[in-house]
Amino acid sequence: MKIVSYSCKPYDKCALSEVFDASWTCTYLDVPLNLDSIGCAQGAEIVTAFVNDRLDAEVLTQLASGGTKLLALRCAGFNHVDLVCAKSLDIAVVRVPAYSPYAVAEHTIGLMLALNRKLYRAYNRIREGNFSLNGMLGFDMHGKTVGIVGAGRIGRLVGSMLKAFGCRVLVYDPYESEVCQALGFEQVALESIWQAADIISLHCPLTEETKCLINGRSIAQMKKGVMLINTGRGDLISTPDVINALKSKQIGYLGLDVYEKEGALFFEDHSDEIILDDVFERLLTFPNVLVTGHQAYFTQEALSHIAETTRDNIRAYQQNEPLLNSL
Ligand code: NAI
Repeated sequence: MKIVSYSCKPYDKCALSEVFDASWTCTYLDVPLNLDSIGCAQGAEIVTAFVNDRLDAEVLTQLASGGTKLLALRCAGFNHVDLVCAKSLDIAVVRVPAYSPYAVAEHTIGLMLALNRKLYRAYNRIREGNFSLNGMLGFDMHGKTVGIVGAGRIGRLVGSMLKAFGCRVLVYDPYESEVCQALGFEQVALESIWQAADIISLHCPLTEETKCLINGRSIAQMKKGVMLINTGRGDLISTPDVINALKSKQIGYLGLDVYEKEGALFFEDHSDEIILDDVFERLLTFPNVLVTGHQAYFTQEALSHIAETTRDNIRAYQQNEPLLNSL
């Protein structure tokens, strides 16, 4: 059985090759899946792909004509896949529903603390022999109100960690949950999050409903100087609106692990190039913005879990068993 894996960095190849069956014919490609690279999937019954691979109707149609029957996503999010088209082409799509909610939750807390206490500035300052505390003033997390949008696996963990700091935790999720109640979270309307939270953290999936959830209108309802953290998906926020709010100081801190046009930048070394995305470059000019390159998930445990679940998904397909993680 021929399997081609796209967007496979050395660490992905290492984790996958360790658990994939020896009888499988595997190709690991360190390039994204797009119209330029799709030829490599010719004759591959199974293709595995990651968050920024192109999986629209055009690509899926070519995969189907090349013989692909199973698309195994090595990620949880599937907003980039045209599922209706995949179904019509008889391509089954499976994913890794959760690889390490702990990894993402812990990184989210890391962004909050680093922004609050300016750890990234301290790192540079101390190395230059500058021990001044001017501009380094933070705030106690204790007693602050945090609003979490999307109280699923990651959102609930973030809430529990913040409870341990002594924060008041508000959550908004379309589905009320007794678990949230038991964890001591207050389940509120979205508007209450905008109005009451000192820190807002996004953990909902990207859907038509949540696209640009953070926009000029929602930002205007927020507390002046609010901290906004997005480790969900880039398109949850309107970046131009957020830039305006940073300029007016309506947003006081911004922590991003995802960016709407990250596909052209993230996971690659562009340090020798001129980056042409002016919106992204503008974000980096603010002293109160911290960006990481979609690394929230990136722990040893998560990589192993992604590899094992992908192997199990492929085995289930191969053995004609029910596809537990199908979309
Ligand atoms: P989950 O499925 O456990 O939780 C998502 C929650 O969002 C659910 O409770 C759902 O009811 C809620 N939700 C759905 N529509 C909503 C809406 N309109 N408004 C508010 N809440 C809504 O997912 P999980 O594992 O907690 O992951 C959350 C998101 O984190 C993923 O969708 C993905 O985009 C992102 N993620 C980011 C990673 C990174 O490395 N930065 C890694 C893994 C996931």
